[in-house]
This record gives sequence, C-alpha cells and structure tokens, in this order.
Amino acid sequence: MKNPIIPFYKQADRLIVRSENCSVYDADNKEYIDFESGDWSSNLGHSNPKINERIMQQIDKLIHDGLRFRNNESEQLSLKLLEKLGLTGGQCAFINSGSEAVNLGITIAKNLTDRKKVLKMDCSYLSAFGHGQISERNTDLINIPFNNLDAITKLDFQEISAFVFEPGNSSSLIKYPNSNFINAVAAEIKKHGGLLMANEVTTGFGRTGKWFGFQHYDYQPDIVSVGKALGNGYPISGVAISQEISELFQKMPFRYAQSHQNDALGCAVGLEVIKTIENLDLINKGFEKGEYFKQSLIELQSKHSDILEIRARGLMIAIELKTSGIADLIYNQLIENGFLVGIKERTLRFMPPLIIEKKDIDNLIKTIDKIKTGTHNVYSKQAIQ
Ligand SMILES: Cc1ncc(COP(=O)(O)O)c(C=O)c1O
Repeated sequence: MKNPIIPFYKQADRLIVRSENCSVYDADNKEYIDFESGDWSSNLGHSNPKINERIMQQIDKLIHDGLRFRNNESEQLSLKLLEKLGLTGGQCAFINSGSEAVNLGITIAKNLTDRKKVLKMDCSYLSAFGHGQISERNTDLINIPFNNLDAITKLDFQEISAFVFEPGNSSSLIKYPNSNFINAVAAEIKKHGGLLMANEVTTGFGRTGKWFGFQHYDYQPDIVSVGKALGNGYPISGVAISQEISELFQKMPFRYAQSHQNDALGCAVGLEVIKTIENLDLINKGFEKGEYFKQSLIELQSKHSDILEIRARGLMIAIELKTSGIADLIYNQLIENGFLVGIKERTLRFMPPLIIEKKDIDNLIKTIDKIKTGTHNVYSKQAIQ
C-alpha cells in the first residue's frame, strides 16, 4: 500500500508505536534507545509521567480559549521563562513550533528597527518557512562565515535589524562559535542600533549544560526564541523580549494573531517542563552526564583513529569521522543494535534526554567500539593485537 503521508522528507520503514523514558519501540516491540530525543525535543524523556499527568489535568480544565481572553497558564509560563532567561520585566508570546518562534522574533526585530536584513552565521538553520527560510528568494538573510572575524568588517550593519545567534546546533553539525567572534558581532550590531536575538529552539532547556545556550557567552539578547524541549514533545514554542524591547513595542505596537497563540494546554505543559527540570536538578545532572559522555568518547577516540574530532557541550555532542561512509556504517549498525543517533555528512550526533543513564551511554560506546568499519585502523587497537 502507498504510504498515505506526503514524502516531504525521507520516509523510514520502521513503524514506531510507543515510547517511554529514553526509548521508542517499533511495531515488533524492538527497543531503540533514543540519542536524538525525538527531534531534539524530549529532554525529560518520552511520555514523561509528570508531563503526562499535567496534560491530563489540564485537558479537563482548559485546552484552548481564543484571543478574547487572558489565561493564567500563559502568564505563569511567561514569568517563569523570563526568570530563567534573565529577562525579568520583559514579556513573552507562545505559539506552536520553533519556526514560528524564530519568525515571530524576526518580525519583532524588523518592525521595531524598521530594517529588513537579518544576520545569521552561515551554518545556522532558522526556520522551515518565512523570514528565516534559507532560500534564494529570501534575499533578506545575510550569512556571516562561522568564526570569521575578518568578515565582520565587510558588513553594512546599518541595514541589519537583528543578529540571530544560534549557539550550537549549526544545521545539525553541532559547532560552537568562539566567544570573541560572537562578542565582536554583537558589539557591531549594538553600535549600529540593531537587536540581538538568540535562537534557543534546539539549545534551550538544559541541552548544553546551562538553561540556555547563549548563557555560555557574554551575550545579552533582546529577543529569544524557544521551542522543542519547552513542550517535551508537545508542540509549544515561544518568543521572549527584554523589558527594553517590551517598552519599545508599547510605542510601536503591531498586531500578530494565531489561533493557538498562548493556548492554556501548551503553556501548562511548558511550565511543568521548566518546573520538572528545576525539581530534578536536570541542568546540573545533564551537564555531568554530558561530561561523562565526552570523556568516554575521548577514550574511544584514543583507540579509533577514524574519529577526527569530538564537539561537546552538555548533552549536545558530535563526533566527526574520517568519511561520510564510515559515519553511515556506524549509524546503520547502531540502529541494528537498538540505538538511534543523528547523522549528517560525516558527523554523528548525540542529543539524548537529560535523564539518560550512564549505562546507556556505556552500552552505546561499547557498541561503537566493536563496529568494524573496514578501514585498516578502525578496529580498536586491543582488538587488532
Ligand atoms: C536551531 C533551530 N531553529 C529553528 C528550528 C525550527 O523548529 P521547528 O522544526 O519546530 O519549526 C529548528 C528545528 O530543527 C532548529 O534546529
């Protein structure tokens, strides 16, 4: 039978029917330990009982109310999110996807600066559609080469509404920009009256070992977009603005309305996610697991010359292999062995839930260690001897 889903992206053969904790299960009940957290969303693990319980409570109370009302859930989430972002006194709006949050952030920047251009690093992904879409038709996006300080002098900052800083994901390749580069871009933006935006759709909510990825830098955002892990799998995203920008908005307001803006159910989920991260101390625990994971990979690298580089911050980790063929082979073998990881070109990616157990990390590393990739020095040195 023809798959009734439009194949906008490559369709997998595996049919997933259930998920729990750090695993998903296919129709044959085969378990896959998910080192991708779905699409980097389930930071608290799949079908987290705390979040499920909160959803059950809220659906009987209020799911959706429409734009004629205020609701407590969105206002409480706004206050909590602003506190975690260090933007107390600012304001938020909540929508449904990361793409919407990035687009809304850019819309705010363009309207308030009356400028059209948007600066991003060349490797940054922003959104599936709209202002952030990477396409030849979107001539308002300006790319600055990653970590290239010289390129800064070639830009006309006068025409730029905002710099959208993505502190880590880099189109799935996991690259962390240097602080001096980011500081220099931010200083030029501010000097010329532009705004600083942080795109935390992927790096937010403990992913990099801090609440937000920009907090690894001396970067004070005017606007922040969040998504993915805010809902732990439920579609809720948001835009936060600083107090200064909210005051500017009062002077230059514009209308933006979507049917599910500030919906009670999504906001209740978001608030529960933040509280659960706090209550379980998952920022610190996620950071520690990330360090453990990184050390295990460093040991693995000392045995396998196929691993060229390890890039890691918290539980946002990548290994770069010698070739994309080797990456493919390891990726496929890992799936066979019940581990889901990410792959792009010759990079393998690991972004497990923050609650991943050390034994799962150990088992993944042992499995990679045993994979025979067919090149002369891929076997572990111990295995060769
Ligand atoms: C950094 C970043 N920004 C924005 C988005 C868009 O989010 P969504 O796919 O939820 O629309 C993504 C999605 O992967 C992302 O990684």
